[in-house]
Amino acid sequence: MTAVPLVIDTDTAQDDCVALLAGLLDPAADLRAITMVAGNVGFDQQVRNAHLTLAAAGRLGEVPIHLGCRRPLVREWVSAENVHGDGSGGLALAGDEPGVSEEHAVDALIRLAADAPGELQIVCIGPLTNIATALVKDPDFVRNVGSLWIMGGSNNGRGNITAAAEYNFYVDPEAAKAVFSAGFTITVVPWDPLTLRDAVFGRERLAQIAEVDTPLARFFTRIVSATLAFDESVGIPGSTHPDSLTAAVLLHPELVLAAGDYAVDIETGSELTRGYSAMSWGVHGLTPNARVIERIDSDAFFAYISGMLACSITPSREIAGLERA
Ligand code: BDR
Ligand code: CA
Repeated sequence: MTAVPLVIDTDTAQDDCVALLAGLLDPAADLRAITMVAGNVGFDQQVRNAHLTLAAAGRLGEVPIHLGCRRPLVREWVSAENVHGDGSGGLALAGDEPGVSEEHAVDALIRLAADAPGELQIVCIGPLTNIATALVKDPDFVRNVGSLWIMGGSNNGRGNITAAAEYNFYVDPEAAKAVFSAGFTITVVPWDPLTLRDAVFGRERLAQIAEVDTPLARFFTRIVSATLAFDESVGIPGSTHPDSLTAAVLLHPELVLAAGDYAVDIETGSELTRGYSAMSWGVHGLTPNARVIERIDSDAFFAYISGMLACSITPSREIAGLERA
């Protein structure tokens, strides 16, 4: 099996870190870089979360981290710290903070796409600011990218940061609009209904992972703890895993049970519906520009994640807070 060349463009908190674990540990993945974008938590915390994740996977220093756009294209940055806390459950990496690449994330995305024209897969699990900036900076970027795998929006369903909008598209709606109209090959993993129905791990499943009691399982339990509390406070019966699902459907397409071709466009003109993702399913005479995942095998997805966490991997460095309870 040839591993998939990929970059994960991320706002590095909670389930973003689980997506990074998939990119780092799945033999189907050839993770060439982590590119960071303004989103969930502040950049310094994102870097700490990425280093913690690399260390938990036993791969600290092996995959370059590139810092990207520090704010959306037009709007002010909106954090999701109220949802995720610090994004890594208060864990701390022993020793000095490892370095990050000097190369900007946008330049790394452009370079890596040009190095593998038509092959590089980019898992986009944060606001799309880096991707939009790359397509503006390099006229060949759209053609060079194999395809984008975007976590964002809702498929004629509810938002999460507002009634209309999902967080990633809300934070930088102009970037999302530019990306969906640029001509990329795109697969979308939406928030509603897909994530809310097929990618929520309830307490029983979380207990199964906690019982595994490997360092990876303990890492997972800690990093999802803050988001679990928030999710349950808003009526979601468990921790939400849209980002790791996005990586999973790229690496294991057999997880997809239903998908459709849609014309996707993003609202940027209205404050009321800013970031709303209009997804037309083909009866409105619009030309499709994305494949939207409609249903996945939820049990198989949980088995994939829990199976990954059962691997007994010694962290690259000591991680304070990862001790057995
Ligand atoms: C998205 O918002 C972020 O808080 C999560 O990391 C995920 O990418 C879900 O709306
Ligand atoms: Ca994310």
